[in-house]
Amino acid sequence: MTRVIAVANQKGGVGKTTTSISLAACLAESRKKTLLVDLDAQGNATSGLGIDKSSLACCMYDVLINNTELDSIIQPTAWKNLWVAPATMNLAGAEIDLIEKKNPANALKKHLGKVKENYDYILIDCPPSLSFLTINALTAADGVLVPLQCEFYALEGMAQLLNTVDRIRQSSNPDLTIDGIVMTMADSRTHLSNDVVEQVRTHFPDLLYKTVIPRSVRLGEAPSYGQPITVYDPHGKAAEAYRALAREVKRRGR
Ligand SMILES: Nc1ncnc2c1ncn2[C@@H]1O[C@H](COP(=O)(O)OP(=O)(O)O)[C@@H](O)[C@H]1O
Ligand SMILES: [Mg+2]
Repeated sequence: MTRVIAVANQKGGVGKTTTSISLAACLAESRKKTLLVDLDAQGNATSGLGIDKSSLACCMYDVLINNTELDSIIQPTAWKNLWVAPATMNLAGAEIDLIEKKNPANALKKHLGKVKENYDYILIDCPPSLSFLTINALTAADGVLVPLQCEFYALEGMAQLLNTVDRIRQSSNPDLTIDGIVMTMADSRTHLSNDVVEQVRTHFPDLLYKTVIPRSVRLGEAPSYGQPITVYDPHGKAAEAYRALAREVKRRGR
């Protein structure tokens, strides 16, 4: 059974894209066929996996708006078991163009349904908003993975995200679950990081993944080489942390 996971948090800069790329790479490394769907017009998940955006004739925009077959835009990466459904700046127009559609929240789900069985895991890197693209991701997903940055305001916006998940459950996707919360950019030398992790654990004891992703300069560098951390710095602490997260995700997934 394929598991579709939306990596979502309407806050920007919390580690959605880094987590999407790294987790996808770790799942692929563990021989799980993995597709990363880039739903952010920034296209950072696309370029982060070494795909040259300027070489692409089509992207997720064409799938969602022009009914281009998803299968036809999926790009293989340089690594085994890892594919990307790319995004380019064109995707920025999708928010407006989706509104014209008959069933604007369902476009991604419809297309994923046709390719789903080719993969063990499908991760969706969401944009930093609760707009139509994120609604599409939550409608298509089995579970949501929420990255939270280890900072004082980590939980800000969480209520709104949970509220949106509830609304999606009531309207189109009753089985949508919150798979878990992963704390990112933790600095174990500071009290703040530890305090924030404890605060999140108090609020969401059942949702917090045991794995905490450390702050790592290498994680910030890897995208400029178009490599996931498992390739750029395979034995570093960040790669090891994301491997541990992948094991947790596989254990929880059904
Ligand atoms: N664990 C980490 N350690 C250091 N830098 C990180 C880490 N996770 C993310 N970053 C950096 O923080 C910035 C925001 O991360 P990103 O994954 O793009 O967030 P989002 O997709 O939520 O906007 C990027 O520059 C990224 O390289
Ligand atoms: Mg991002």
